[in-house]
Amino acid sequence: MEGSTLLYAFLILVVARLFIKWYSDPLRRIPVVGGTSFPLLSYLAALKFIRRPNDVLLEGHAKYHGSAFRVGMLDRWLVVVSGLDGVEDLRRRPENELTLSVASNQLLQRERILGSEILQTHWHAEVLKTTFTQSIPTILPDLIDELPSAVLRNLPTATDGWQSVEVKPAVLGILAQLNSRVFVGLPLCRNQDYLKLAIDFTVNTMKDAQTMKLTPQLFRPLVARFLTETRTALFKGRTYIEPLVRARREKINQFGNDWPDKPHDLLQLYMEYAADKNATDEMVAQRAFHTNFAAIFTATDNMTNTLCHLASSPEAIGPLRAEAEELIASYGWTKDAIDRMWKAESFLRESARLHTLAPFVITRVAMRDLTLVDGTFVPKGTLVAAAVAPAHRDSNNYPQADVFDPFRFSRQREEKGASATQMFTHTSGKWLAFGHGKHACPGRYYAADELKTLLSYIVVNYDIKVDRPNGGFETGKIMVRKRQSPSKETASSNI
Ligand code: HEM
Repeated sequence: MEGSTLLYAFLILVVARLFIKWYSDPLRRIPVVGGTSFPLLSYLAALKFIRRPNDVLLEGHAKYHGSAFRVGMLDRWLVVVSGLDGVEDLRRRPENELTLSVASNQLLQRERILGSEILQTHWHAEVLKTTFTQSIPTILPDLIDELPSAVLRNLPTATDGWQSVEVKPAVLGILAQLNSRVFVGLPLCRNQDYLKLAIDFTVNTMKDAQTMKLTPQLFRPLVARFLTETRTALFKGRTYIEPLVRARREKINQFGNDWPDKPHDLLQLYMEYAADKNATDEMVAQRAFHTNFAAIFTATDNMTNTLCHLASSPEAIGPLRAEAEELIASYGWTKDAIDRMWKAESFLRESARLHTLAPFVITRVAMRDLTLVDGTFVPKGTLVAAAVAPAHRDSNNYPQADVFDPFRFSRQREEKGASATQMFTHTSGKWLAFGHGKHACPGRYYAADELKTLLSYIVVNYDIKVDRPNGGFETGKIMVRKRQSPSKETASSNI
């Protein structure tokens, strides 16, 4: 047989195999949005979903409202539910039907890149949800104390003119330092090498996951060996923190669980929790560093969008300033003041509503064959999730849902009285910024307080405007200068 005949026969076999696989795929009956499921062409659907996830999800919701559809990812399909019943169905399913750990490993490829310990134990989320959240009143004074230093390092200090600022890197720098103060304390939180490492670790984790998903399964173990930056950053971050753990361990041995200058940061809470869990000091240090990943990324996006919105909504700056100054005059820079900053909270939430932070949440893998509430059959191993933008842009959930209305939630509080549903940290089928259900973001109460404090500090101390007409979101830049109009003395930068 000639070589070319063999080649044709081989190609026909490959095409036939792809066709049979496609035809017999149990997901085939679930409609595809953003492209086609046809072999190879499905990559185009995946690329579209990577570039414009929210547009694809909104399109799916508009076409199939209330029933599931699927969108392409580089290495698999994601079955998406939208609508209140679909979200509620996911939230309620027990772990033996839908599980998070397998899903987050598939999405972030953590086990291959970072090793299995990070994946197998989940105690950090438990600490964040319980003792860390309960400790916010004790932790907040440290965060407030760190604000002037963190902001000064990352925003311009000139009083004599506007300066253009690239918003995202500035916010990354500020939040890395604020979080580090709360996670590992002084002086490490001001060590520039450590902060750079925390930021790089966060950014590289996402990049590596994308590279792995582009790699065929067979070659992933090999490729993972070459993706060393994230692993190295985690290792180096750990080595910065380990000496702190050892020094604190000595104090514990000497004084028991209490001593006069005992730190009250996240590392200390991790150490106390880990004592019952047989976690080694290395594991505790690794956890403390790894928490940066969850804490920096989404919060940075929220604050970046908020500042861009602020630059393009000059009419909102006055009310935000007045609120912050009045409360600080009455309560000082304290949790009591921050809890009452409804306008700041409303602004942050409205920004997160229109500029979705995570396109899908409640991401799970089916542990057995399942039928979803709308009758959609999902076989064992399928990745499923709930879409965020469709819930946040639905005019049944939010009147005039496409309009940026910065004080929509604070107005509701003023008009109807305070209720949990107006809060940034609320979770429901209509408000999914922090996910929903058992694995909803355990750091959200801290995140909301941190972002409200930062936003109020910036409006009290800085003037902000767009860098050019219609700038802000388009350019990712804003103009900033030290505040020109006099501020109330009590609310000035003298924290
Ligand atoms: C605006 C800021 C933040 C947003 C929008 C956000 C959002 C989210 C979302 C959507 C999830 C997944 C929930 C789900 O799919 O149901 C999540 C998980 C998580 N978040 Fe946040 N987050 C923020 C800040 C933080 C901070 C500051 C911390 C730590 C102090 C944190 C720690 C975590 C952890 C550890 C998880 C994983 C929970 C688990 O695996 O059970 N997050 N977050």
